[in-house]
Amino acid sequence: MKLNKAIPWWKPQIGPQEKKFINQVLANHFPNEGKFTELFEQKISNLLHCKYVVTVTSGTAAIYLALKAIGIRNGDEVIVPNITFIATANAVEMCGAKPVLVDIDPKTMNIDPQAFSKSITKKTKAVIVVHVSGRAAAMKEILLIAKKNNVDVIEDAAEAFMSKHKEKYLGTFGQVGCFSFSAHKTITTGQGGVIITNNKKIYQRLKELKDQGRPHRGTGGDDKHNVIGYNFKFTDLQAAVGLGQLSYLASRLKRMKRTHQLYRRHLINIDEFSLFDFDIAGGEVPQWTDAIVKERDQLDIFLKSKGIFCRKYWFPIHTQIPYRLSGKNLYQSTRLSSEALWLPSAFTMTDNDVLIVCNAIKKFFKKNDR
Ligand SMILES: Cc1ncc(COP(=O)(O)O)c(C=O)c1O
Repeated sequence: MKLNKAIPWWKPQIGPQEKKFINQVLANHFPNEGKFTELFEQKISNLLHCKYVVTVTSGTAAIYLALKAIGIRNGDEVIVPNITFIATANAVEMCGAKPVLVDIDPKTMNIDPQAFSKSITKKTKAVIVVHVSGRAAAMKEILLIAKKNNVDVIEDAAEAFMSKHKEKYLGTFGQVGCFSFSAHKTITTGQGGVIITNNKKIYQRLKELKDQGRPHRGTGGDDKHNVIGYNFKFTDLQAAVGLGQLSYLASRLKRMKRTHQLYRRHLINIDEFSLFDFDIAGGEVPQWTDAIVKERDQLDIFLKSKGIFCRKYWFPIHTQIPYRLSGKNLYQSTRLSSEALWLPSAFTMTDNDVLIVCNAIKKFFKKNDR
C-alpha cells in the first residue's frame, strides 16, 4: 500500500482571511505593533477568559519574559519537567537561573507532582508546568505544593491553546501562562506567542520588559526608559495572520478532537501500542495525538515507507549536551522518551486519512503481514 498523497505529521494552513487582514495592515503603512496587535490580544483575552494578554516574538520569549516578570534572577532555581521542548529549559537559562529537571508521570508525560515536591530547595522560585500535546498536568496537586512552598507557577501552554481542564483554560491556572504560535501549533503567526495573566503588576512588568523598559509606547526618541527592557514586540503583520487564523479556530479544534477520537476508536487491543488519554468531554484539546509504542522506531520507518509521517518525542532534556546530568531520579522520562510518538495530527486530515493511518498501524503489528 503506497498512498497517492503523503499524510504529514502536521500541516499549517494559511487562508483567505489572513490575506484580507494583511492587505489592511499594508494599506495602513504601519507594520509595527499597533491596532491589529491590540485587536489580536483582545480576542485572545476573550477566548481564554483572562484579563491581560501580551504578544511577543515566540513561545520561548513568552516563557523567558514570564520568568523575568515574576523576578527570576541569577542563582534562582526553576523546576522544569525532563520531557518538554528544550525551549522551556533554555528560557530559564536565559534568566541566568538554573533549570532543575524532574521526572514525569508516565500516564501523561507531564511533570510528576511528587518529583516536583521532592526537588524544591531554598533556592526554588518557580516551577514551569508543561501541558504536553495539550494534555493537562496535575494542576490541583501542583498548585497545592507550590502554594505550600511559596513557589510561583508558570504554565508552558505552548501546545495547549484552548485546551480546558476543570472548567478553565490551561494557561490560566498559574501566575502566568505562555503560548506559542509557531508553525506546528493550532494557530500560527509564523513565529510568535502570547503571555497571559490576571495580575496587573505582572502585566505592567511584561509590557516594559518587551519594549525597552518603556511603560507605554513612545516615539523612539524622547521616551523615558525606567527599567532595563528588550525588544520582543509583535508586529501587525503577524497579528493580521493571527486574526485570520482565529477565524478557523473552531473548526480546527473540532477536527483535532475528532481525529483523536477516531484513533482511539480504531487503535484498540494492540499490546505494543497505547494512546495517551485526553479528557475530551472535559474540554481538553489534543493538539497532537501521541502514543507509547514498543517498537517505535520500526513503526515510524514502516509508516514513512507508506507515506505516513509521525514525529518522535523529544530526547529527555538531561541527555542534551548543555543539560547533561546523571539521569538520577529521571527514570520515567528516560524510559518513555524513546517509546513515545506523535501520530499524524494535522487539522487538515480527513476521516479517511485517519483510517489509513490506523490501518497501517494495525498492519505493522500483525507481524506476519509485514
Ligand atoms: C512545550 C513547548 N514549549 C516551548 C515552545 C517554544 O515555542 P516557540 O517555538 O514559539 O519559541 C514550544 C514550541 O514548539 C513547545 O512545544
